[in-house]
Amino acid sequence: MMPVLDEAMNRAAKEKLDNIRREKAHLIPRRYLEDWEHVALFNPTGDLERANAILINPQDGAYDLNNKLNDLTGKDWTKFTSSWFVFNALQSDLQQERDLDPHIEDHPATFSPTMISNFVNFFTKEGMKVLDPFCGIGSTMEACKRTGRMGYGTELNPKYFNLILKRVPEFKDNIFNCDAALIPQLNLPQIDFCISSPPYWDILNRSTRDFEAKRERHNLDVKYSDTDNDLGNISDYDTFMNKLASIYLNIYDIMRKDSYLVVIIKNVKKGGLMYPLAWDLAKLLSKKYVLKDEKIWIQDKMGLAPYGYPFTWAANIIHHYCLIFRKEK
Ligand SMILES: C[S@@+](CC[C@H](N)C(=O)[O-])C[C@H]1O[C@@H](n2cnc3c(N)ncnc32)[C@H](O)[C@@H]1O
Repeated sequence: MMPVLDEAMNRAAKEKLDNIRREKAHLIPRRYLEDWEHVALFNPTGDLERANAILINPQDGAYDLNNKLNDLTGKDWTKFTSSWFVFNALQSDLQQERDLDPHIEDHPATFSPTMISNFVNFFTKEGMKVLDPFCGIGSTMEACKRTGRMGYGTELNPKYFNLILKRVPEFKDNIFNCDAALIPQLNLPQIDFCISSPPYWDILNRSTRDFEAKRERHNLDVKYSDTDNDLGNISDYDTFMNKLASIYLNIYDIMRKDSYLVVIIKNVKKGGLMYPLAWDLAKLLSKKYVLKDEKIWIQDKMGLAPYGYPFTWAANIIHHYCLIFRKEK
């Protein structure tokens, strides 16, 4: 218990804490084990019998020893459960990678390891195995490195694949330069969490001239590749959706029961029509997974263009869906 004036109570609490350390060390996150002399037992009503949580700094909240999902305190757990978040720092988060290899900038749609770390921290415990079927330049792998998880993944484009190996050489045996459709043949171990962002259909092949010109001026890629099995090169909507869904449905068998799958995706427009990629994917994946929630990622620092003005409604789409599924059977 948090130290109180009652000496007998403090002694009993210390005894209980020592027993927990002896018998349940495997349930205790490393940060507590490494600072054990500052760890206190915690129960919100001060009931020693029922105390089953530990804390170091009361402001950080307490860690419940029954927590089977992650290593977070109740306070951090609750913070993450908001159904939306704002995150803009995609480029500034890549500073250390730029020093490693300037080509890191080449990828047209890379994510932030900080943002992905928040998901990894919520959906896994330290040491668990995380899969990203569409690794890109490896933001998920970098997030795994930072948070002490094991990264596994596939990436089709050899240039991006080589950048991942530079970034996280420790995972070189777990990452494959191949089509994500081949994952069932890769003999991967059981996976505890899968998070990825696939191509948003062929959106890059339809970029504005402005976007292309700006990137070409700096010698940056305007699309992922020219190969046929790059999902970003499939122009028919149903063909794209079915191929994408089959990749996630085919990894179902290597996912641990009760593990989560997060897919970050966006609804997109083509020829004046809206195509609900996120909603359609949610439906297709529900054949096997249980759709638990959506968490909406907002980029509120993106410039707004006067689409449609002054004739018709056309949104500037500045949000993505992080679809959260669970393997429950
Ligand atoms: C949105 S990007 C992922 C970016 C990644 N999250 C990052 O932060 O770098 C999608 C990636 O999927 C890759 N890709 C496209 N089709 C694929 C396929 N069939 N199998 C594996 N990777 C594929 C593309 O080369 C691209 O790098």
